[in-house]
Amino acid sequence: MPKPAKRKHDWKHATLGIHGDGRMKHAHFAVSTPIVQTSNYYFENTSDVYEFMKAKQEGRTIREHEYGRYGNPTQQECERKLAAVEGAERALLFSTGMSAVILTLMTYMQPKSHIIFTSDCYRQTRDFATNMLSRFGVEVSLVDPTAVAIEKAIRPNTHVIFTESPTNPYLRVLDLPAIVKVAKRHQALTIIDATLATPYNIKPLDMGIDIVIHSATKYFGGHNDLLAGVTLGKHDLLNDLYCMQRMIGAMPGPFTCFLLERGLKTFGLRMKQHNGSGLAVARMLESHPKIEKVWYPALASHPDHAIAKKQMKGFGSVITFLVKGGDRETRKFIDSLELFLITPSLGGSESLVTQMSMMSFFDYTEEYRLNIGIVDNLVRIALGLEDVEDLITDLEQALDRI
Ligand SMILES: Cc1ncc(COP(=O)(O)O)c(C=O)c1O
Repeated sequence: MPKPAKRKHDWKHATLGIHGDGRMKHAHFAVSTPIVQTSNYYFENTSDVYEFMKAKQEGRTIREHEYGRYGNPTQQECERKLAAVEGAERALLFSTGMSAVILTLMTYMQPKSHIIFTSDCYRQTRDFATNMLSRFGVEVSLVDPTAVAIEKAIRPNTHVIFTESPTNPYLRVLDLPAIVKVAKRHQALTIIDATLATPYNIKPLDMGIDIVIHSATKYFGGHNDLLAGVTLGKHDLLNDLYCMQRMIGAMPGPFTCFLLERGLKTFGLRMKQHNGSGLAVARMLESHPKIEKVWYPALASHPDHAIAKKQMKGFGSVITFLVKGGDRETRKFIDSLELFLITPSLGGSESLVTQMSMMSFFDYTEEYRLNIGIVDNLVRIALGLEDVEDLITDLEQALDRI
């Protein structure tokens, strides 16, 4: 894949989501990106094959496409736009956020090395870290989501520091410049899953982080109708991951890429709405007599409020809180909601709600759940794009029924 030229424009998110870093040429001068639904690309004759192979061997590009697993025009246009929105040199798409996380880790981990994760993080990432990585001879530490705890966990063989920011579900915000300093001192690679923030709210690469990952299923797709993941960073650093992507082919198909790229056209608008709703609902919940505690980084009560204010432009639409009472009251509250759908995920147009102990952590033992702070009255909501007044009214009427 040819190396992109340096960024041409200093555009903001809404513009980048619509135009990428400049005009792209489409077949038939189509305004929207064509869905190139093909698994392979033909050559006119054997001389064309020869010229193509020779150019590839010499590191030149005379045409991009040969076989679907090695790249598809709809996918690549989507990657170019995602890179522009993140301000990254390169983006590589995967079929889900988890395939981006796992394949990125598998590409950059080394035998007998040590990887640091934060204890509060997406459940499947933690499961992969604790249950699978040891099988490959990789040591894993799970630490509190702070730069200090990360530095304390460093060993001579620490090779990768992987964190989310904000974390899921407690929305802990990490001091990324401090983590970069620690990583530089110990020559470790830094990988941040910034799914809950998006580049609208945080730019880890600008702070010196090496690699950023997103579940594009969430705010990038934005409509609860697709699965995708993306890894972003410097062009040369991602060469090995590009080889992995071509080898495995775990990328979304052309139609999913079309939907994802379509979602990017409203990314800036949607994030503005998500941030506004998140703040208004978090404030309402914090002052509500039936709510015990709220985690939302914009609130002064959040443990990482000072870091979040420094690093983030807005705080998104995921809010985690404790309902006063226990399992019975929490279920009554959730069952009384009219606008919130009971399902995991976040970042789409529909508002969603989960009782964490029941949905994402049901199969853990109670002891393990309590150890990682998953109590029965812990609820996570992910606000959609409905009018915030309607969301607040719905939450209040459901709380009144407890
Ligand atoms: C922070 C975070 N990372 C990764 C993922 C995994 O994404 P996907 O469901 O697209 O595999 C999720 C899913 O909720 C998530 O919240």
